[in-house]
Amino acid sequence: MAVETTPLLGENEFALARRLIAQYAGIKLSDHKRYMVHNRLTRRLRARGLQSFAEYLQLVQSEPSGEREAFVNALTTNLTAFFREPHHFELLHSRALLHRQRERRPMRVWCSACATGEEAWSIAMTLREAACPGEVLATDIDTEALEAARAGLYPLERTSALAPERLRCGLLRGTGANSGWASVRPELHAMAQFMQFNLQSPQWPAMEPFDAIFCRNVAIYFDRDAQAKLLERFATSLRPHGLLAVGHAESFPATHRAFRACGRTAYEYVPG
Ligand SMILES: C[S@@+](CC[C@H](N)C(=O)[O-])C[C@H]1O[C@@H](n2cnc3c(N)ncnc32)[C@H](O)[C@@H]1O
Repeated sequence: MAVETTPLLGENEFALARRLIAQYAGIKLSDHKRYMVHNRLTRRLRARGLQSFAEYLQLVQSEPSGEREAFVNALTTNLTAFFREPHHFELLHSRALLHRQRERRPMRVWCSACATGEEAWSIAMTLREAACPGEVLATDIDTEALEAARAGLYPLERTSALAPERLRCGLLRGTGANSGWASVRPELHAMAQFMQFNLQSPQWPAMEPFDAIFCRNVAIYFDRDAQAKLLERFATSLRPHGLLAVGHAESFPATHRAFRACGRTAYEYVPG
């Protein structure tokens, strides 16, 4: 029986893959990620029936092969969880209570790297728990992750850390053919919109300003210039005193004069 072997990702090919993912998504891959890149791109090589990484990377660069999107999807890391880094949801909850008292419009929150959606649905659940009318825009560059986010259907084990009351209010347990799965309740679906969006895109669509932006565990992959540009953009996308929540290992908003710390890895936009 013939054994199918995949060629090893060579140094030059790894360097090219790193350049391309930096160009398309702003993601800076460190040089010890060669085996990860090898493994992830091997699946794409097989899917395309190609024999070498050189051919594959050629295809990625030739539009309209459609492979650029799959290449980006393959190299993103979508690790996430419901109510990950819970302090941000506590902060959002207290802001939502104030919003409900003071404003006549829905609270607008942008989940800007939503991965498979758990973060966006946690935001929607938080607004509902505060009885605050809300709109959640959830975006990600990765089209496959975004599809999962939009579907809002999760294996039960992914929801096991949720408190029973939250589980009951936010998700419906599947039965019969869907047993072992939980789906997000229609009331939450009605609050959320999903859209592919590259945070490195030079053109940002005109958007009504947000009361809060979650940008967690994504800017860590970007270089300083890209982080600075992102902050400029966020400054124009937030309402005064709007909240910017970043990931546990990130502090880049502290470098911008218009962002003031207002909690653990949380910043407030203070114009002027
Ligand atoms: C580690 S996950 C973080 C998910 C979630 N924010 C959290 O903290 O649990 C990083 C996400 O950023 C997305 N991403 C990477 N580069 C991006 C870019 N240039 N624009 C938008 N999303 C990007 C990836 O597709 C991935 O889903």
